[in-house]
Amino acid sequence: MVISMIAAVSENNIIGQDNKLVWNLPTDTQYYKDTVRNKTIIMGRKTAESPDMFFSKKRNILITRKENYQKENFEVTSGLEEALKLTDDNEEVIITGGGQIYKMGMEVADRLYITRVHTEIEGDTSFPMIDPKIWKVTSERKLEANEKNEYSFSFLIYERI
Ligand SMILES: NC(=O)c1ccc[n+]([C@@H]2O[C@H](COP(=O)([O-])OP(=O)(O)OC[C@H]3O[C@@H](n4cnc5c(N)ncnc54)[C@H](OP(=O)(O)O)[C@@H]3O)[C@@H](O)[C@H]2O)c1
Repeated sequence: MVISMIAAVSENNIIGQDNKLVWNLPTDTQYYKDTVRNKTIIMGRKTAESPDMFFSKKRNILITRKENYQKENFEVTSGLEEALKLTDDNEEVIITGGGQIYKMGMEVADRLYITRVHTEIEGDTSFPMIDPKIWKVTSERKLEANEKNEYSFSFLIYERI
């Protein structure tokens, strides 16, 4: 199994505020959808309840400590380890946030799809530090801001060294 994480992250590592994203970047949203659409995805309960939530066509797994919590189109589990146990050995599983789940995922992930948004911004939720001793960039593509996308950003793929 390959365990990946996907996130859009500002230069100061912010990913969200008030359970929402902090930018409008339709090109990144499209990249996100194309990347996760046919994959099993795992997320925290708060991200699952965010208005920016996007469903995979394959499988959507949610992590919560709440007992008897249910949400349409989600399989509900009590932790990241439990969520990963539900998945197949031969698939790529993508952790889609948010801050609490990325923190746990950083310990087990093999690959990171990071959109680095080239701005410093305020927010209440962060992505963990990406240690260059542990992660190497294997792909990088920069896009400039335009009438649709309010900031410039880079699509980066990291693999664990
Ligand atoms: N920029 C991006 O790419 C991106 C992507 C995703 C999300 N986000 C942003 O991230 C923010 C949400 O992140 P967040 O950190 O607040 O919440 P989160 O990680 O989405 O979800 C947190 C919830 O997960 C459950 N949880 C966490 N640790 C657990 C554990 N060890 N065992 C069982 N359940 C556990 C708890 O649910 P219960 O409270 O139900 O027990 C907890 O409240 C939003 O602003 C969202 O927009 C940004």
